[in-house]
Amino acid sequence: MKVKNINSRDLKQIMILEKEVFKENAFSKQLMEELMHHNTLFLKLVNDKNKNELMGFIILIKDRIDRVNIINFLINTRFQNKGYGALLLKNTLQKITQLKEIKKVVLNVQVSNSQAIKLYEKFNFRKNPEKIENYYQSGESAYLMELDIDSL
Ligand SMILES: CC(C)(COP(=O)(O)OP(=O)(O)OC[C@H]1O[C@@H](n2cnc3c(N)ncnc32)[C@H](O)[C@@H]1OP(=O)(O)O)[C@@H](O)C(=O)NCCC(=O)NCCS
Repeated sequence: MKVKNINSRDLKQIMILEKEVFKENAFSKQLMEELMHHNTLFLKLVNDKNKNELMGFIILIKDRIDRVNIINFLINTRFQNKGYGALLLKNTLQKITQLKEIKKVVLNVQVSNSQAIKLYEKFNFRKNPEKIENYYQSGESAYLMELDIDSL
């Protein structure tokens, strides 16, 4: 498995995965295209033993001078629960620590997504106890989770 920077040729595959995993909450193609050009990090995990098949991706944008926000993160359903999400997140956080000005990483997660919450907690993210009501298109609420880079 390899972690690589995204390429505009990946857009089609990215959108297939995005819709399959996030359904009505999926980012639009237009937004995804925009993010391919304007991001702090947009990384993909590929299977280098099978024609560089796309296994997952992660998108971060800088939303404050000292902070990045993980705005999208998924692993292809076929490859979930095998450690690949942890692998991609670890690699991403390593890259973030090299950006000296970044002190915090934040993200929003669906309150029902215990799998993702567990993964983030393993990496020292802290869950803000207050729910953000009606955060997603689907109407579901979100938690804000935060990581201090110094705690890595
Ligand atoms: C969340 C997601 C990225 C995690 O990737 P993954 O490859 O499935 O996760 P991993 O196999 O690396 O698991 C890492 C940790 O997550 C937790 N986890 C994974 N699967 C779990 C499950 N079925 N139930 C509970 N916890 C689980 C565990 O803490 C696990 O660590 P452990 O194996 O040491 O116990 C992936 O499941 C996914 O794409 N989900 C749908 C999209 C999504 O929810 N994205 C995040 C939006 S904020």
